[in-house]
Amino acid sequence: MTVAGERPLTTLGRRAFWDRDVYRAELTRVFRTTWLFVGLESEIPTPGDYVTRPMAEDRVIVVRDEEGVVRVLLNTCRHRGAQLCSADAGNTSHFRCSYHGWTYNNAGDLRGVPEMREVYGKDFDRGEHGLLGPPKVDTFHGLIFASWNPEAPPLVDYLGDAAWYLEAIFGRADQNLEIMGPPSRNMVGTNWKVGAENYVGDGYHLSTTHQIPIRMGVFGDPRAMDDIENRRADPFHCVVAGNGHGVRVQQIPMEYPRPTFVGYPEQLWPEFERNLDTDQRDLMTGLAVMHGNIFPNFSFIEVLQMPWGGAAAAPTAYTHIRLWSPLDVDRTEMLAWGLVPPGSPPEYRAAARKALIRTNHVSGSFDVDDLQNWTSMAEANAGVTAQTDVFNYAGGADLEPASYRGWPGRVYGVDHSEVNQRHMYETWAELMDWDPSLGRVRDATEGE
Ligand code: FES
Ligand SMILES: [Fe+2]
Repeated sequence: MTVAGERPLTTLGRRAFWDRDVYRAELTRVFRTTWLFVGLESEIPTPGDYVTRPMAEDRVIVVRDEEGVVRVLLNTCRHRGAQLCSADAGNTSHFRCSYHGWTYNNAGDLRGVPEMREVYGKDFDRGEHGLLGPPKVDTFHGLIFASWNPEAPPLVDYLGDAAWYLEAIFGRADQNLEIMGPPSRNMVGTNWKVGAENYVGDGYHLSTTHQIPIRMGVFGDPRAMDDIENRRADPFHCVVAGNGHGVRVQQIPMEYPRPTFVGYPEQLWPEFERNLDTDQRDLMTGLAVMHGNIFPNFSFIEVLQMPWGGAAAAPTAYTHIRLWSPLDVDRTEMLAWGLVPPGSPPEYRAAARKALIRTNHVSGSFDVDDLQNWTSMAEANAGVTAQTDVFNYAGGADLEPASYRGWPGRVYGVDHSEVNQRHMYETWAELMDWDPSLGRVRDATEGE
């Protein structure tokens, strides 16, 4: 039997994005087999703190129990399935169902059943009716992931070569990065993979989609860009990081005597230097942007931006993460957070917040630009005729990876290519048992 992931995937049938049968298959074959991001430890620092989150179409409560253990609990009562917790976030020792009153502690154990003896008799075992939850929960530098797959590899193995790049961002401070506030939520009218594949390595769209903010100077004086780029022979890299993950790095040396960690308060630099290895420090030197996607739907971006108004003022760097959670074939719930290192002074926090809001935010120029294209893709591909065609992922198909410093993964010295997207979809195709010749998933019994 042919496995699509075994050969280079330079096209992908459009039904992979817009066909409801494919979407239904994804919910099981992709979202119940992989590790899914559900939140940050800094969102739930004290016992009883919780947030409610999607794991694809399932809803979970991510809670720190009384012992300090992070739990992920399916947000549905074991009795008749009513939603247990309707708030986005809060603090509680117990969750009480609003229908018949079954009550669970914040570790998910059923503790209270109104009229238990009278209704269910003396043999009713509360121990058998605790809340369900994913069998695997783990964290990586404050990022909480969970998996429905009991056979899933350890999280750090799943992150593969992407772990080193994530560590350079999320592990550089002595403590976990802090959230700037609760996540923004945006219901986006497109398929979840459209956002994920953009973040995994699409440097190609920048000069077209985002030309307005770039011309306005969000990354510095645009007239100086060519000159700056020419001063470093190797400013651009795309990294295929395994298991469908990818990272894109753009290092443009800034006009600063010490470009390492530029954009962050200098008082934090010794801490960053202590926590990173030599190659990670080099990775962060003169970093304009590093973004990527952890398959399937967790994206991150580390970005350096100039204040509105030109290169004379100091630049600001910050971390931004987002989750592309599927609601339907053409509907995605996008949750997005801004992050700063603990111990950051108030002036830096204010500057980082402004930089985030004006760009990578529901009201920011980058999101407005991107979403216009992404929602138009859903509309333009709603018809069955359009869905008979394929999308083209042949960019950089002849490129070979080359080792670069101590950077892990398959590193390509290129900016505008589709190497990372191909890797993402090769992983997707393998999990989905996608038949490229038929342009659809195989049935479970086919080919046996
Ligand atoms: S549905 Fe929750 S107590 Fe009945
Ligand atoms: Fe974009």
